[in-house]
Amino acid sequence: MSAPQPNPATLPLRNIWYFAAPSAEIKAGKMERRFYLGQPVVLGRTKSGRVFAMRDVCPHRAAPFSAGQQSDEQGRACVECPYHGWKFDVEDGTCRKIPALSEREVFAREKVRAPIYPTHEQKGLIWIYIPDDLRRFDGVPDLDPPHIPDDIPGPAPKMIIHAKAEGPYDEAVIGLVDPAHTPFVHQQWFWRRPGDASEKVKDYEPTAFGFRMKPHRPSSNGRAYKLIGGAATTEIEFRLPATRLETIRNEKYTILGLTCITPTEDNRALITQMFFWNMPLLSVLKPFTYPLAKTFLGQDGAILSAQNENIALAKPVMLYAGDPDRLAQWYLALKRAYLAGGADKFENPIEATQLYWRT
Ligand code: FES
Ligand SMILES: [Fe+2]
Repeated sequence: MSAPQPNPATLPLRNIWYFAAPSAEIKAGKMERRFYLGQPVVLGRTKSGRVFAMRDVCPHRAAPFSAGQQSDEQGRACVECPYHGWKFDVEDGTCRKIPALSEREVFAREKVRAPIYPTHEQKGLIWIYIPDDLRRFDGVPDLDPPHIPDDIPGPAPKMIIHAKAEGPYDEAVIGLVDPAHTPFVHQQWFWRRPGDASEKVKDYEPTAFGFRMKPHRPSSNGRAYKLIGGAATTEIEFRLPATRLETIRNEKYTILGLTCITPTEDNRALITQMFFWNMPLLSVLKPFTYPLAKTFLGQDGAILSAQNENIALAKPVMLYAGDPDRLAQWYLALKRAYLAGGADKFENPIEATQLYWRT
């Protein structure tokens, strides 16, 4: 009896860009073994600074490139397999050298390829495109990589926090957009308490691959917002597959909180929260805010892991109750639309509307 196949609708999307790593984690001349959607990937940076991603499986006899080193060949940046020293071009994946092969031997070395994943680096962030079928992929992504707006301050995030989560990927992403969990999961002195809940109405509109809460004045019961002062506005956008951007601005300052959820191994995800700012006070406060933000993110990871045990054992059917759960349903609808049409024929199922809830 073969194992039951998972429903593709519940798996992370393919043919789309995922957040791979902060640039700062991938140093020049170095390589790291990472997992994206269950696949081993060597993520590296050449000595000249170019980021690359290759399947971390040598086509010869499956040794991981990440355990080898980088070594140029014919003036091209290559990775050298640690097992027999075959070299593969980091740009096109072509095998450039098989050291043990005698010159008398005829072997079509250039036909051997290690599959390459497209990468994109901007503002200190590395993105990776995960195709549906790496072996048949023509190397050209179906859509442009994500772009952080140019008016966001700084060349890279000033604060980066990771949390690991275990559980169904969709539940992890829903945690990003779900407004109702915040006062319960994130009970901290600097954040509002459940008892402070007040009636909210929010204006939403569709965006290219997601939705956006239109710019508005931050809620008066959010203590963290008081820091920026002045006539601040906040705007929150969600974009497939799992990117949330919260931008807070006033006349002087801009703060971007960027959260990305990357599916790593089966049923596991890495939540990365990053902040950009141009507010000197936030730089001074960083030693204090970092542990708070780390706790905050860890709470999201912890509730997902706790929920996961029940999902695995009891296989519950999820309930969605009114506007507080509308964003979760929107996420699932966006995902279905992307599965059906891909990037080219994507039709956003969301209509501009107002949502009401108490948080
Ligand atoms: S396994 Fe990579 S060169 Fe042999
Ligand atoms: Fe949360």
